[in-house]
Amino acid sequence: MPRLLIVAHAPSPNTRRLREAAERGARHPDIEDVEVVVMPPLETGPEDVRACDAILLGTTENLGTMSGALKDFFDRSYYPVLEEQQGLPCALYVRAGHDGTGTRRAVESIVTGLRWKWVQAPLILRGEWQEGFANQVEELAMALAAGLDAGIL
Ligand SMILES: Cc1cc2nc3c(=O)[nH]c(=O)nc-3n(C[C@H](O)[C@H](O)[C@H](O)COP(=O)(O)O)c2cc1C
Repeated sequence: MPRLLIVAHAPSPNTRRLREAAERGARHPDIEDVEVVVMPPLETGPEDVRACDAILLGTTENLGTMSGALKDFFDRSYYPVLEEQQGLPCALYVRAGHDGTGTRRAVESIVTGLRWKWVQAPLILRGEWQEGFANQVEELAMALAAGLDAGIL
């Protein structure tokens, strides 16, 4: 069964809602044949990346770039997965208080190095919290899982 790995940093109530929305979308009842694994970045690493068939990354923007937790995940995973996981379908959501572009750029450059394949453009959830943010993340995760289920990723 294909596996979707969700690696999401969630240090606040809002970002926990985003991670829950991602899991809800990926586990949509119509999607039957996809295994979903949800992990905080500090608790996952190259073994989980090697074992997955698509990856959804979620992070806050802190001090102009991705969270230290997601950066640490990449620091530990980059070389161990570099050869094996080229072409891995990926997507990203960023919760940013006011910007998000630095995080987007930083993750894009790592994804380019890893030769992962963007399934959708990065989703930047910027500014004041909006109820619709969770729906957007839910849809993004659902699209990834549905693509895996249909064998088109
Ligand atoms: C130390 C720190 C640095 C931050 N730096 C940025 C930043 O550079 N750009 C930005 O858009 N938001 C920044 N933020 C805001 C966070 O992205 C935001 O608080 C986080 O995504 C949680 O969102 P929430 O308040 O909706 O839970 C920062 C927050 C903290 C605590």
